[in-house]
Amino acid sequence: MEEKKTLFSAVQPSGVMTLGNYLGAIKNWKSMIDDYDCIYSIADLHTLTVKQVPADLRAHTYELAALYIACGLDPEKCVLFVQSHVPAHAELTWILNTMTYPGELQRMTQFKDKSLKHADNVNMGLMDYPVLMAADILLYNTEVVPVGIDQKQHLEIARDLAVRFNNRYSETFKVPEPYIGKVGAKIMSLQDPTKKMSKSDENANAFISLDDDRDAIIRKFRRAVTDSDGRIIAAEDKPGITNLLSIYGAVTGKTIAEAEKEFEGKGYGDFKSAVGETVADLIGPIREEKDRILKDKEFLDGVFRSGAEKAERIANKTLAKVYRKVGLVQRMR
Ligand code: TYM
Repeated sequence: MEEKKTLFSAVQPSGVMTLGNYLGAIKNWKSMIDDYDCIYSIADLHTLTVKQVPADLRAHTYELAALYIACGLDPEKCVLFVQSHVPAHAELTWILNTMTYPGELQRMTQFKDKSLKHADNVNMGLMDYPVLMAADILLYNTEVVPVGIDQKQHLEIARDLAVRFNNRYSETFKVPEPYIGKVGAKIMSLQDPTKKMSKSDENANAFISLDDDRDAIIRKFRRAVTDSDGRIIAAEDKPGITNLLSIYGAVTGKTIAEAEKEFEGKGYGDFKSAVGETVADLIGPIREEKDRILKDKEFLDGVFRSGAEKAERIANKTLAKVYRKVGLVQRMR
């Protein structure tokens, strides 16, 4: 039998997940679970690059785990673990740091955006974020990384570092490929459709959280900013309608063309309500299941324990190889 390729991805537990995270990432993760060896992480170390309330970070970590499972990521079928539970992530980051240049990190779009947004806390971690992400990926001999478009640039760094290390010290890392879904890879804000939908948006009407109830979801879609031309078609000068069409397409599995056809001749009001209803139907059961799982902390701790053990076995092997190649003396046991 052909060996399955390894797939790795992660989400930061920096608040409640948005519809963008779901459609851009998790939805694809679930569909790939049978075809790949899947490793899904909760990137808690990454969240520390912006200020967090410690108790909230802990709560968000459990919530994200419950949400992963509620979204169909069965911990028996994949490795599901918390990044900080596997020290090899921080350790490989150090080695990779010694071969990464500040200029490479300073030009990252996310670093520039977050530096402006958190001007009072432009820390080394914020700049080093893509190197930790590269370590996450490279530790597992990952070949495929399903992410939204916003993470593509970070994946380039991971690829560059893999190649750089291999060239300097001989073949060690696989060079990972991004997997970016055809629909839903960039869900935009409902209030400013030229901006990415983000959970850190100050305006709660701009994003759909997976914790929003039915009324809130429908209300937010009704208030979604569009244009006034009245035609339900995807076009560059119609970012609001285009965004709603791609949300509808990503949720229902229909193409944009099919969605356009379905709403031909309808008004914006009806269209927005239909998208809202469809999204509410999707999120309702996930939210209920997440709340049910979240009540069982013992179960989640068990998932974390066995996930970390499984992840560590792979990660430590890679790290040992890396340490040996760069010339560190092996620790005696
Ligand atoms: P994060 O937590 O910002 O987002 C998690 C995933 O959701 C995708 N995403 C979106 N997709 C479509 N439309 C949107 N509006 C939208 N917003 C977010 C992101 O592209 C991402 O796939 N650095 C990563 C987490 C991470 C990681 C990794 C990912 C840490 N280590 C290793 C892959 C591999 C992040 O901050 O994602």
